[in-house]
Amino acid sequence: MNRLLQDVAKVLIPQRELQARVAELGQEISADYEGLNPILLCVLKGGYVFLADLTRALTIEHGVDFMAVSSYGSATESSGVVRILKDLDTDITDRHLLIVEDIIDTGNTLSYLLENLRVRGPASIKICTILSKPSRREVDLQVEYVGFEVPNEFVIGYGLDYGERYRNLDFIGVLKPEVYS
Ligand code: IMP
Ligand code: MG
Repeated sequence: MNRLLQDVAKVLIPQRELQARVAELGQEISADYEGLNPILLCVLKGGYVFLADLTRALTIEHGVDFMAVSSYGSATESSGVVRILKDLDTDITDRHLLIVEDIIDTGNTLSYLLENLRVRGPASIKICTILSKPSRREVDLQVEYVGFEVPNEFVIGYGLDYGERYRNLDFIGVLKPEVYS
């Protein structure tokens, strides 16, 4: 048995629900971006599992690219001060960008990223996130595609980590409080 499972207090979104929702998002995005050849911009590291599933749920031509950012702050809170650790390889001028995220919490990381990307002159920028915690939002962000809204609890799995662990769990779970302390 997977030893990481011992740290999970409860399963919030089981694997089959994640897979069904990703399939729906894939259909929706394929319809919306027909003929536009969008670039799916995966925000590392958390977005990698979702991107891998989402790209295979698309039936349209598209590219993928990656950015790695680190947000200063504590292990469970972001500050909005973002450092770019890896930039895009693609010239995004006049291209349609779809940002693929694991979770939007305060929205600080994404709001910084949007500012940084807008000046590069893309044709459009939209956001797709598998999870959103609307109760925590500190900045006003328009998010076009949301997989699930989750309550204000620290969640792990499906790419999301705590201290670089639990990313490989195939469901979204809540950590046991004793793991934090
Ligand atoms: P934001 O800037 O507050 O929106 O936070 C964005 C980043 O914080 C996400 O991309 C995650 O890496 C991390 N994060 C926020 N909430 C959680 C959570 O509940 N579990 C794991 N990571 C989280
Ligand atoms: Mg993280």
